[in-house]
Amino acid sequence: MFDRIIIQVTSNKKSYKVITMQNNSILEFFHKDCLSGINDDIKKNSIDVVVTSPPYNIGINYNTYHDKLPRERYLFWLKEICCTIKNVLKDGGSFFLNVGNKPTDQWFAWDVANVLRKYFVLQNVIHWIKSIAINKQDVGKYPNVVGDVAVGHFKPIMSTRFLNDCHEYIFHFTKEGKSHLDKLSVGVPYQDKSNIGRWKHAKQDKRDRGNTWFIPYDTIQIKKERPHPATFPIKLPEMCIKLHGVKEEMVVMDPFLGIGSTAIASSRLGVSFVGFEIDKEYIDETISRINSYIGVYKCE
Ligand SMILES: C[S@@+](CC[C@H](N)C(=O)[O-])C[C@H]1O[C@@H](n2cnc3c(N)ncnc32)[C@H](O)[C@@H]1O
Repeated sequence: MFDRIIIQVTSNKKSYKVITMQNNSILEFFHKDCLSGINDDIKKNSIDVVVTSPPYNIGINYNTYHDKLPRERYLFWLKEICCTIKNVLKDGGSFFLNVGNKPTDQWFAWDVANVLRKYFVLQNVIHWIKSIAINKQDVGKYPNVVGDVAVGHFKPIMSTRFLNDCHEYIFHFTKEGKSHLDKLSVGVPYQDKSNIGRWKHAKQDKRDRGNTWFIPYDTIQIKKERPHPATFPIKLPEMCIKLHGVKEEMVVMDPFLGIGSTAIASSRLGVSFVGFEIDKEYIDETISRINSYIGVYKCE
């Protein structure tokens, strides 16, 4: 999509800028705590879409962040960050918050959603399906499904108590529950084409996908190919941004950048991005991923 992209590293080494040459959209990366970063560096009512996944407080081995706080402290911390996000989100903006559970703590995601209840409207709950098994006999007469299907990846759980965890949540928060969405941008073709034109809203060969999104992880065979312990696939933020609606001069933010999946999705869609990350290595990895995904030239 882009002819040429320039990366600028600012002199204080705290922020990086990626400037696209084609449509002037900018990707900015701040090596900074997102709470102070959003307060200091982002204008109120300036962000169209936030897509993010915070640490889940389950003891993941991040380079810098300590992922094991007492539950109440963790929820307070996350609530503070989300309130700061609300300040910079535009009135019609969308805040997509990806959270998963662990088998021994099935309330976690809903506890997180619940602390945000006072501050946002929960406009949609999307189920990110990582793996699914479909039996042919349950499908009926779909010509494309010729046998049983078991697709996607998950971490197997060696326990007789718990099922393998094949999904996570994407909570879609908005300020008033009234944000209009571009549902057909992530729509699916009708199986039965006779539906097209049958109803007023069925003008093209696409229908609302609904709130179950099958998005598998990229397959990684070698451990050292995994530079970060907890990423989501690029397709996830890409679908969220498209669902909100891609507009000219829009800005996407990820306060927990990681290795930049939301940044890469933004760059693919040609929209501006700002991200915060406390670990410099992850920012460097983001830059090199952008480099390999879309081709960049680096300059100081
Ligand atoms: C779940 S990961 C995000 C991964 C990201 N979605 C991706 O696909 O690459 C959470 C990230 O938040 C970072 N982090 C933790 N606390 C932070 C803070 N206060 N400000 C900015 N980043 C933070 C961690 O270092 C970690 O990389």
